[in-house]
Formats: sequence, C-alpha cells, structure tokens
Amino acid sequence: MPRGDLDGTTVVLGVSGGIAAYKAVELERRLVDAGAHVVPVVTESALRFVGLPTFSALASEPAHSSLFEDPDPIPHTTIGRRADLVVVAPATARVIGSYASGISSDLLTATLLATTAPVLVCPAMHTEMWEHPAVQENLATLRRRGVHVLPPEEGRLAGGDVGAGRLAEPARIVEAAAEVLRSTRARASGDLAGLRVLVSAGGTREPIDPVRFIGNRSSGKQGHAVAEAAHARGAEVTVVTTVGLPAPPGAEVVRVETAAEMAEAVLERAAEADVVVMAAAVADFRPKVVAGEKLKKRAGPPDLVLEPTLDILAELGRRKRAGQVLVGFAAETGDMAEEAAAKLESKRADVLVGNDVGASGVGFEWDTNEVTIFTRGGSRAVPLTTKKAVADAVLDAVLDQMRPGRTAAPDQEGALPA
Ligand code: PMT
Repeated sequence: MPRGDLDGTTVVLGVSGGIAAYKAVELERRLVDAGAHVVPVVTESALRFVGLPTFSALASEPAHSSLFEDPDPIPHTTIGRRADLVVVAPATARVIGSYASGISSDLLTATLLATTAPVLVCPAMHTEMWEHPAVQENLATLRRRGVHVLPPEEGRLAGGDVGAGRLAEPARIVEAAAEVLRSTRARASGDLAGLRVLVSAGGTREPIDPVRFIGNRSSGKQGHAVAEAAHARGAEVTVVTTVGLPAPPGAEVVRVETAAEMAEAVLERAAEADVVVMAAAVADFRPKVVAGEKLKKRAGPPDLVLEPTLDILAELGRRKRAGQVLVGFAAETGDMAEEAAAKLESKRADVLVGNDVGASGVGFEWDTNEVTIFTRGGSRAVPLTTKKAVADAVLDAVLDQMRPGRTAAPDQEGALPA
C-alpha cells in the first residue's frame, strides 16, 4: 500500500556518533512512515548515545553495526548494493573525512565506499568543527563527486552552546531524501542521459600587467544554467568556467582565467563530448605584451598593442566529429539575426543562440535572459524568462539536431536571413 514519497525504496540510514544520534531514531521512524524499507548501519560511537535494539525495533530489519560480527560475511557490499539511497544522519567530522579520503574504518564508511546509490550526508557537529577548513574541504570533495549535502541548522548544541552545526530536522531530511531520489530518477530517464555535455561559462580576463586586465561583464550565470539543466536531464557535465558559481553535483569543473586557458581546457575535452556549448564570453583580443611589473601611472597611458586570441568555437567547428552538436552564443547589440546567421555558418555551429545584450533584463549579469535560437532549419524566439528556462530551450534545440531526419520545430519562424 503506497504510504509516501519513499514508497518501495530501500534506504540505508547511516548513524555516526554525535549527540544528534538520538534524532536519528525519529528520522528512522519518519523514513519508515514515508514508505521506505530502512536498513540502519550504526557506528560504534553512535551506540554510546543510542542502543542497537532501539534502531532495530523501529527499522524495517535488524540494525547492523559491525563489519566482522554480522551474519553476512560481506555486509558492506550487500548493504551497499541493496540501497536505493544512503542517508548519513548525523554525519560526524570523522565519517565525512573518512568518506572523502576513501578510508573504510568501519561498516558505515565501508558501505559508503561500496555503494553506487546516491548518498545524502547530513552533518552535525559543534560550530568550530563545522567551520574548520578540513571539514569544509572534505564536504567540497564529496559534493564534487556527486554526494548530496544537507547543511546543518543554527540552534542549540551539546553543552548548552548555540550556533551552526545542529542536525537538520528529521522532517527536512526526509524531504531532502525524497528530492534526491526524484532527481536521481529524473536524471536516469532524462532525455540527455548517456550524453556528455561540455559547457564554457563566464568572461575571460586578459592580463595587461600583474594587476590589470581586459575583461567583460559575463557573470557565468547563463553557462552555469546550461550546465545545471544538462545535469538535471541526465547528461554527464563538464564546465570550463572563469567563475566560482556552483556546478552540478558530480560535474567536472575546470577553472580558467584567460582565453588561452579556456581554449586549452575546452579543446582538450571536446573530442569526448557529444555536445559543446560555448556560452562563455571569450576575449577576441589580448595584449600582445604583458608587463611583468605593475605599469606606473606616472609613465602615462600605455600603448596597448592587441593580438587576436584563438576563436575556440571556430576551432571546434573545424574539429567537429560526426554526430557532435556544437552550440555558440552571439552577444550582440545591433542586428542580432544577421550576426547570428553569419556566426552559425562561419564557425560551423549547429545551434547559435542570439543574445541582444542591450535590452534590460537580458544578457550579462541578469538572472533572466531573452534569446533567439538559430539553426539551419529556422529560428525560435525565447521571450524574457529565467536563464534556466533559456538553457532548457537551448538543450531542446540540441536534441532536435540529434534526431535523425530532423525538421524544423513547430514554433520555428522560418529560414535564416540570407
Ligand atoms: O554570463 P552571463 O552574465 O550570464 O551572460 C551571458 C552571456 C551574455 C555572456 C551569454 O549569453 C552569451 O551571449 N555568451 C557569448 C558571448 C560572446 O562572446 O559572444 P561573441 O559573439 O563575441 O562570440 C560568439 C561565440 O564565439 C560565442 O559562443 C563565444 O563563446 C565564441 N568565441 C568568441 C571568441 C573567441 N575567441 N572564442 C570563442 O569561442
């Protein structure tokens, strides 16, 4: 009988040893109420706070705590394989550190390393520990690998202290668990599942001297929105970016600064990609000579001699392999259709996203955008909307290019200007 969001799922509940272990009992009950088959894996330290019989009594099967005293000779792999989701709550600094470092010092960490199921980590610890760079770096490592992290809340801690580090409320953890399962399923059945999408994002900086550069106003929001949308639709994502915006869990993130660095990072990875989206605003020119020392104001304005950078999109067009879809953007303030049509041809792109960056709410830095998507079959206007919605429209156009015997989409307006 369906009971809730987690109906029919097997959830391994990892409990590690902090005072918040008592809350894991309530969490366990709520997970069962939401329809999950709950398998508790409890560390030795957690058992100092709550006894194994309590976890066993409320779970769907007896709780496990030992690698060696379990009836199953290889409990970590068996439990790891049965899991649709692993929730670690509370997750102590030790468990987070062991998981990030690949150290399997007990049944819980061994299970975490042995499973291929999605994992939701819910840290709880004292504020000083939560804020320690070692803990934050370990969590960043886990996030990069696709682990979901539900941060702790502010509130009362052990010993009467108050601050950040309190385990998220059990109801909130159940919601987050359901969301992780929903997004995992959506990705598995997404229309980009199995495809590798390479996205560039942000504006490059071309140094003049050690403190000055030629740059542009790109925030990277549109490129990162493409990365998020591609991830949500099941793609394996690589983002080559000049900015520190969040990237989808599990995505490869390559930080670059200059056009040359972006060219190297993109071209190195492009052959592997099914789709390449050049949303970055790449400098067309850079100073021919970069001063080794800060240029002095008293020396007067420098004579900046510029040289062209490599046109990455055009190079991608030259190297494009059969079946690969290449997407360019065109930031314009004049005749966007003319320019976009010209760029579609000259750079051998399959999709060209025209962005009239002179309008309010459109283009650089805004959270919104308005574009026209050009292909050789026609064009489609995307009225002012979120950058995420623009990203989805661009990916729809990409999929359209991948369909055999593709035709113009129904809402296409017609042929490109000559
Ligand atoms: O980052 P946001 O603040 O969210 O803003 C989004 C955006 C306005 C930057 C984005 O929507 C956009 O329009 N990106 C492309 C900006 C741009 O550089 O346009 P362009 O017309 O100069 O270049 C055309 C295409 O060639 C682009 O795909 C660009 O990535 C590529 N290019 C340009 C120069 C170069 N040396 N190499 C390139 O690959």
